Amino acid sequence: MDLYRGTFVYSKDRDTLAVHENSYIAVEEGIVVGIYPVLPEKFAGLPVTDFGDNIVIPAFSDLHVHAPQYPQRGLQMDKTLYEWLNDYTFPLEAKYADPEFARAVYDAFVADLILNGTLHAVIFGTIHREATGYLIRKLETLSLNAFVGKVNMDTASPEYLCESTEESLRETELFLEEHLGNHFAKPILTPRFAPTCTKELMTGLGKLGAKYGVGVQTHLVESLWEEAEARRCFPDVSCDTEIYEKAGLLDNGPVIGAHFIFPSENDLSILKKYGGYAVQCPDATVNVIAGIMRTSFLQDQGIRLAYGSDIAGGHRIGIFGQAAKSVQLSKLKAFYEPGGNEAISFARAFYIATKEGGSVFGNVGSLEPGYAFDALVIRPMADPFMEISPAEAVERFAYIGEPKDITARYLRGKKL
Ligand code: GUN
Ligand code: FE
Repeated sequence: MDLYRGTFVYSKDRDTLAVHENSYIAVEEGIVVGIYPVLPEKFAGLPVTDFGDNIVIPAFSDLHVHAPQYPQRGLQMDKTLYEWLNDYTFPLEAKYADPEFARAVYDAFVADLILNGTLHAVIFGTIHREATGYLIRKLETLSLNAFVGKVNMDTASPEYLCESTEESLRETELFLEEHLGNHFAKPILTPRFAPTCTKELMTGLGKLGAKYGVGVQTHLVESLWEEAEARRCFPDVSCDTEIYEKAGLLDNGPVIGAHFIFPSENDLSILKKYGGYAVQCPDATVNVIAGIMRTSFLQDQGIRLAYGSDIAGGHRIGIFGQAAKSVQLSKLKAFYEPGGNEAISFARAFYIATKEGGSVFGNVGSLEPGYAFDALVIRPMADPFMEISPAEAVERFAYIGEPKDITARYLRGKKL
């Protein structure tokens, strides 16, 4: 039994933070047993790690991030999505044919992810099986909960970053076979988005999903350009999400749709039917996509939400900053497009960043009994001028926090 004393903050439900000031948490084999205002008699005499006035929160989940784009963050942010992809991102991704380059970047990427308190992630690699294999093995060795995909692209892509349909399917099947036995970092199908995937590829991937029981991640109705391209390339569907449904990609495992900014009624009902996640990537939305997700509207429709850093469409890797920006964007949406687009509270954003996003990995993202003790210890964030409450400290951390404000990180009860 491991015991810790401090102040604990987590989401009780989607609009309420639970705050336990100066309390004790008991953790058994990495799983939370309970939080107590006074140390229960049965634990008397056991050692207690004291965090003082620091605050313990659940670690964050990033449900959409491109590991290979890590070297590109904060660059070419004044381009459109199409230019950004074709002129900068695709040439960078081509470099991952070199395993040595991949190892160097992926080591730095994973270190930064952990530094920023993201201990669970759904990650795009590139089309390269070997490079993506290095990434997933590294995460498995660290016992980080993750879904990692070898990307598929077999059309409308530059020659240096395009596979044949057969090659794409063959390499994907090998990737699945190599990593399906993992306990923590699991493979996921990753058709990049409809414009760069043929119908044959999508259908083939759907068959692999059914055969191996694996889910799918992609970019879904992310921009008006992408939405129009998707329907042009797949003329027999009514919407982007239906492409994936028709290919049999939605009923084999988790469904992760990045952005989901311009969904039709049909997109909504299909994503909801399969319990898929709509992943808001607030920085990326402002940098290269230009559209604001209808967060509160989607939640009211019963769609699961999560946040993604979308490195390098997004420039910052920490999910706490994305939670803050999601609140900001929701206020803009509510102001400019009122009617069904209520602004969200910080408590709601924190819930999405921890418990709701974490739900794709199992019991992570809370400090309730039965959840993994995947936790961050953060500074109280106070200055000498004004007292702030623990809940306010967490809000301030989301807005102005930095990795240095995270004083410890725990993964299944083990200090990192
Ligand atoms: N759509 C297709 N590929 C990408 C990508 O790498 N990033 C973003 N933000 N959108 C995409
Ligand atoms: Fe993306």
